[in-house]
Amino acid sequence: MTRFIEELKKSHGAGELRAVHVGTQVVLMGWVDTVRDLGGTLFIDLRDRSGKCQVVLGKEQLSSDQLEVAKSFRQEYVVAIQGNVIKRTGKANPNLATGEIEVLATDLKLLNRSKPMPFQIADEVDAGEDTRLKYRFLDLRRAPLQRALLMRSKAALIAREHFAAEQFVEVETPILTKSTPEGARDYLVPSRINKGKFFALPQSPQLFKQLLQVAGFERYVQICKCFRDEDLRADRQPEFTQIDLEMSFIAPEDIMAICDNMLKKMFKQILDVDIQTPISQITYDEAMRRFGVDNPDVRFGMELFDVTDACRESAFKVFSDPATGGGLVTGIVVEGGASFSRKDVDALTDFVKTYGAKGLAWVKRADGAFSGPVAKFIDDTLESALLNNAGMKDGDIALFVADVDKSTARTAAGRLRTHVAKKQGLVSADQYGFTWVTEFPMFEKDEETGRLAAMHHPFTSPRPEDVDKLLSDPLNVKTRAYDIVLNGQEIGGGSIRIHNQEVQAVVFQALGISDEEAREKFGFLLDALSFGAPPHGGLAFGFDRLVSIMAGLDSIRDVIAFPKTTRAGCLMTDAPSTVDDAQLAELGIRLHS
Ligand code: AMO
Ligand code: AMP
Repeated sequence: MTRFIEELKKSHGAGELRAVHVGTQVVLMGWVDTVRDLGGTLFIDLRDRSGKCQVVLGKEQLSSDQLEVAKSFRQEYVVAIQGNVIKRTGKANPNLATGEIEVLATDLKLLNRSKPMPFQIADEVDAGEDTRLKYRFLDLRRAPLQRALLMRSKAALIAREHFAAEQFVEVETPILTKSTPEGARDYLVPSRINKGKFFALPQSPQLFKQLLQVAGFERYVQICKCFRDEDLRADRQPEFTQIDLEMSFIAPEDIMAICDNMLKKMFKQILDVDIQTPISQITYDEAMRRFGVDNPDVRFGMELFDVTDACRESAFKVFSDPATGGGLVTGIVVEGGASFSRKDVDALTDFVKTYGAKGLAWVKRADGAFSGPVAKFIDDTLESALLNNAGMKDGDIALFVADVDKSTARTAAGRLRTHVAKKQGLVSADQYGFTWVTEFPMFEKDEETGRLAAMHHPFTSPRPEDVDKLLSDPLNVKTRAYDIVLNGQEIGGGSIRIHNQEVQAVVFQALGISDEEAREKFGFLLDALSFGAPPHGGLAFGFDRLVSIMAGLDSIRDVIAFPKTTRAGCLMTDAPSTVDDAQLAELGIRLHS
């Protein structure tokens, strides 16, 4: 008997075989994707990581014993085949990369059986996500997921090579550590040896990478896991991966250039897409004004208009009240939107209401005239603003959001912009729109507590010209922080840090963090800053988000091998799970029932 595996090694990937291999003897090993029995001759599609190819199992080449074994093959059985590559006897299959050839089997072995599948291993499956996640090891056999994880592996390699060539040092930082203030809740780990005390899993390596600058490493990089206990969405997981970097003696432009080049290499080598560098920059204020959001999708125009000034004298209170009350009248002009039905507009109204807008006013324009219920309120001033500033033309619709709270109006209009763009097909799948967003505000007001919170994190450097305003006018302090945005998603963020202990202390003061609290939480950082900390800064990419966009997938779950559900659990392992009393007792923990 042929000793497959021990002696006969797998020679090729099933998906690698092409016309040039005709005449080659091959050994394939993989999974039975499909079986067809055509009266004595069996055709199977054999699948492995590289793809699939057709294998013919016929009585001319195989003994009757071997044919018996072949007849027992079912979907997802694991098999080994030895055979010869021949030109397809039937018609070539243009849908299959290996469609010009087939393998005529001369020997075979059943390596393992499989139970019937809970769902088909196919590109598209009907099975719900719950079933797929429970059997994630089967879900991962599907080609789209295999492609995504292979792409992820390649992207990580390109990043590592890029940073190594730029003299970065890869340093691992602790997982069992102390809380880092990235704005989410911590995952805590109880300590058995120090009962009653807890480690926090890092929300990012932020403080450690700064300490590595104080330690003199100058250029640090790490592809690392971060843990955040926050409400989950398609682009958020409780544990996710960052490409995390930090550098000494640099300005924002230096970090941006290094990141631009990493992205350029990744997009070229993986997608054969050329990114224009340097990637353009926009300030936070300008992004909010033009796009209503701090993560603008720059693949299309349809920027927000601002007709506030033109609405001061308006007879329409919906517009004049915000215009005279310190608010904003904004919105978008949708080209060709005059064809929107009443139902379309109602749906858009419901949409903006989910972002806190009170309504959505609209006018259409055709044959040089406005129409719709609000048309009677379009006086000469507003008409001129719509036609000249907002660029409205015949065939368009203008959609308005007005609010005394500027940020509510902006957010709703900004979300509406991307929503309508999707609906109107303004973006195509292979378009990539990058932008840096710079000069973020240092602080934002927490609506619930009224207290100031750091918009990025409290180690972000204010612009030098704003340091004096930290206590007197904190909401107008801008930072040296920058986010990198791709297709309307924040794929990374960073900043120049505070390297001066006194400035750091003032920032804590502005945030209402007492000296004792600062010492207790970040004493080690304050200490480090007092021992010759170099000027430094860095950035972290959200690696999962970056790969999911490159792979054209909607959810970062699809580029994570073993993701959590939106309920922050793993359906495959059933984590998190209960533990026995003895384990809890050892940790000194008692549960409230
Ligand atoms: P930040 O908190 O902006 O910065 O995180 C960096 C990037 O990580 C991604 N990201 C996430 N991805 C998936 N799931 C999540 N829950 C999640 N949260 C964040 C985003 C984000 O842009 N220490 C700083 C970086 C720095 O200042 O150098 C930090 O962690 O794409
Ligand atoms: P109303 O006067 O409340 O009947 O509203 C007239 C139109 O204005 C409707 O289309 C509402 O959706 C719209 N509308 C109401 N409030 C706002 C607002 N704050 N911004 C924009 N449109 C609004």
